[in-house]
Amino acid sequence: MVGSLRWPAALLLGLGMAAAVPAAQAQGSLVLYCAVQEEWCRAMVAAFERDTGIKVSMTRKSSGEFYAQVKAEAANPRGDVWWGGTGDPQLQAAEEGLLAEYKSPRLAELSDWAVRQWEQSRGRTVGVYSGALGFGFNTKELAAKRLNEPKCWADLLDPKLKDEVQVADPNSSGTAYTLLATMVQLMGEDKGFEYLKALHKNVNQYTKSGAAPAKAAALGETTVGITFMHDLVTMVVDGAPIKVVAPCEGTGYEIGSMSIIKGARNLENAMKWYDWALSPEAQAIGAQARSYQVPSNKSAPVPPQSPKLQDIKLINYDFAKYGSSEERRRLLSKWDREIKSLPK
Ligand code: G6P
Repeated sequence: MVGSLRWPAALLLGLGMAAAVPAAQAQGSLVLYCAVQEEWCRAMVAAFERDTGIKVSMTRKSSGEFYAQVKAEAANPRGDVWWGGTGDPQLQAAEEGLLAEYKSPRLAELSDWAVRQWEQSRGRTVGVYSGALGFGFNTKELAAKRLNEPKCWADLLDPKLKDEVQVADPNSSGTAYTLLATMVQLMGEDKGFEYLKALHKNVNQYTKSGAAPAKAAALGETTVGITFMHDLVTMVVDGAPIKVVAPCEGTGYEIGSMSIIKGARNLENAMKWYDWALSPEAQAIGAQARSYQVPSNKSAPVPPQSPKLQDIKLINYDFAKYGSSEERRRLLSKWDREIKSLPK
């Protein structure tokens, strides 16, 4: 009977073909925009490729840079998922219609602050981790310069710290935008800008990436680095002579976020990454890659090294306002005009 011969032949042929195609290719691919530390990006990609067979093409940049890229590519999107980095630029992108709406079956497993991010963006971005802003200093450099230990934001204005403080540029860096928005919320806009103007005198360099000042402080290239506290903890874990400070006046924090880019070419795989990245197993990868944020999945382990958010004086950061398109744009151009262009 021809029929009974034909089927196994087709089956064999099919199996043969499947075996000839590498698993990753068979499952397609994913273009990932990753805005956390490179080591964590790489560990996530490797685990996802292993778990799903989907091949990931990853680029790492800072949060503000990805915002600009996603906007520039809007007519012809190249990225599928924007994972990590501060939430404000993702909220702005959501408002500007650059992100796709998606409800993960894992939403119910997340902490309230992560779900609120999703609600505020009308389902277009979600919280994946959280961490508080602070600063760290190199204990050896401080001792060599005979300076007192800074404990408060105000201490960073000490003229003795001239050219000894490093922080990123808020246009490229979500970390530095968090500092800008934190000062405005903590002190009021006028005093906040006065503070940043005075700080400018002590800033030796505005870096592109938010965590760069933590590395520079670890190497003694700057005495003080303003970054998220967990980025400084990474340096301490590495054995650097860094002391991490939660500023006495109080501080802001981030909701590190994730979104699917509108018009994503690999939409199915983007949703797979999204659900996977919210799982407790995937969220445990951060600490293995020496990133000590607080994960958003309530069942994911909180790394013992993570700064304890409940012990830090946190401001009630208004993500809806400071992640809005109008406010973020306004504050950044004011910072360019009034701070960055200032002589020292
Ligand atoms: C580091 C931190 C993250 C943060 C990110 C923002 O990677 O570990 O928690 O979200 O910086 O990066 P950016 O360069 O935009 O300030």
